[in-house]
Amino acid sequence: MIIAIDGPAASGKGTIAKLVAGHFQVPVLDTGLLYRAVARDTAARGRPLDDAATAEAAARVLDPGTLDDPALRGAKAGEGASIVARIPGVRAALLEFQRAFARQPGGAVLDGRDIGTVVCPDADVKIFVTASAEVRARRRFLELQGRGEEVSYEVVLKDIRDRDERDSSRADAPMKAAADAVLLDTSELGIEEAFAAALRVVEERAAG
Ligand code: CDP
Repeated sequence: MIIAIDGPAASGKGTIAKLVAGHFQVPVLDTGLLYRAVARDTAARGRPLDDAATAEAAARVLDPGTLDDPALRGAKAGEGASIVARIPGVRAALLEFQRAFARQPGGAVLDGRDIGTVVCPDADVKIFVTASAEVRARRRFLELQGRGEEVSYEVVLKDIRDRDERDSSRADAPMKAAADAVLLDTSELGIEEAFAAALRVVEERAAG
């Protein structure tokens, strides 16, 4: 079974994806890390992040073994990711890796922005996780503070709004819910409640 979990920054999609994958004991891929790593590798080549040729070259030779780099979880990496993610050649270069991951024999969970629409349009279950920008900014603010980053809530909220705008307005694979996705608003839900709601969606879909 392929489970696609999409949604905007700090909506809870990554946490839900990990819990759902753990529950069904299938592998999970946080596809945002791929874009974060491409931004890291583009910068390491000394080029601006919107240099399409360099970013595409970095995406083509991306080493999935480097995705557990803790630096990728930072705020700067997320911003950088959304810049390289607008480049069609970068998205194309990362597509086959994501599809191969999804095709594993026991199934898989993938989270991102375009899993249900572009990467796995035939996924068995599609969930689009949302929450208000204020709630998402609060979560991200606490998360970054917990990692020891010096941030203010106002800056995090602005970053979230900017990123929403960039991700949903880009021409190639914009962030949007697939027509057959189930919407899950986590604004008022804790982690356990959001996980339970996602599990219900999966179980309903699996039952046909
Ligand atoms: O955790 P958060 O939602 O903040 O970020 P992420 O999921 O790691 O994604 C970082 C950025 O990568 C997003 O803002 C998107 O621009 C891009 N991305 C994408 O374009 N397609 C995906 N499937 C996943 C991420």
